[in-house]
Amino acid sequence: MQAPQEKTSKSLQELGVTQRSQVDSLFAEVQSSFDIESSKEFIEILWKEFRDEWLGRKSGVLSQITDNWLKLAPPELKPAVGAALNKLRAAVETKIEERRLSIESSEEKWALARERIDLSLPGVVRPIGSHHLIRQVFQQIEDIFFSIGFSVVEGPEIETPYYNFEALNIPDFHPVRDDMDTFYLDLPKGATQPLLLRTHTSPMQIRTMENRQPPVRVIVPGKVYRRDNPDATHSFIFHQVEGLAVDTDISFCDFTGTIEYFVKQFFGPAVKTRFRPSYFPFTEPSVEFDVSCPFCGGSGTAAGGGTCSKCKGAAWIELFGAGMVDTAVYSYVNYEQKKITGFAFGIGIDRLAMIKYSIDDIQVFFQNDVRFLRQFP
Ligand code: FA5
Repeated sequence: MQAPQEKTSKSLQELGVTQRSQVDSLFAEVQSSFDIESSKEFIEILWKEFRDEWLGRKSGVLSQITDNWLKLAPPELKPAVGAALNKLRAAVETKIEERRLSIESSEEKWALARERIDLSLPGVVRPIGSHHLIRQVFQQIEDIFFSIGFSVVEGPEIETPYYNFEALNIPDFHPVRDDMDTFYLDLPKGATQPLLLRTHTSPMQIRTMENRQPPVRVIVPGKVYRRDNPDATHSFIFHQVEGLAVDTDISFCDFTGTIEYFVKQFFGPAVKTRFRPSYFPFTEPSVEFDVSCPFCGGSGTAAGGGTCSKCKGAAWIELFGAGMVDTAVYSYVNYEQKKITGFAFGIGIDRLAMIKYSIDDIQVFFQNDVRFLRQFP
């Protein structure tokens, strides 16, 4: 079929149309080429071209018919051309609008289909964090001590020399201060006393006893700092849990019983324990507490023969320092020295965790390498 423009660009005269019946068949021809074109598949851009081809003001088919057929028609044919043109225009406009609506709704459907949420698809799995191993060990220790009537207190990491040393019976000249060299803070002008990062959790013994009368049963988990060079067992920041029990009748037996209970709960009932004499200015007597090596069962020999690499053949592993609270300490907190007895201990958590979980370098606790962290979900 010819494109309608071939005819609509000419006048009726040029087309040889002189009778009404010719007018009708001419319009019928135009209508049928419109019908064919309008039945094609459209996307929006093609629909616009189609609309302009038929309804465009200057060169659209209907404008051409108006200019070339209607306006130039001989008077006797004008009414027929006018009527046919109106009919054609109504049909063209209706159809073009219909197609627009159908394109719009099919595009909407596409958009809806694209955006539809499929609830049956598996969700996005986000990695869930877990407690750091040190936090987990804190928790285990807290649970054990909760079960025997201790409560948890926490204290400042920035301390004064008084709480960190003097009130713990460590005067200025005492050689123990060398082992606990720490970080002193730059002070604002006018500050009256130095400030330091605490070297142990023991200052909380003093702060607790200042605020509470016996009986006292507390543990103090927290971070501590020392100017130690980093290596496999030393870090300049590490963790301790302090323990303090003070009352009118606490004996050395209560002390050993409590510590042994804790160690057996923490490492399992098979481990053996022992005390060795030691020295801390704030406990008297002072002890180092050892546990039979949990790796070789306290034999000093590795499973496949040879020396146990964990205890280096010693069969024992040093765990922490402890002792009966030195009566001198009570004088700093206004307790009646003669009536009060108690014990204290200070556990290095990082090394305890290293022993329990066979970790051979303390630095991994601070590197935040997820390959390490994921092993302790
Ligand atoms: C003390 O800090 C005492 N306050 C413990 C104490 C409390 C004794 C109450 C008596 C009564 P010591 O300096 O030994 O003691 O440290 C305790 C533990 O901290 C050590 O056994 C060790 O496990 C850990 N530790 C010490 N220095 C470091 C370090 N640089 N890095 C990692 N852990 C450390």
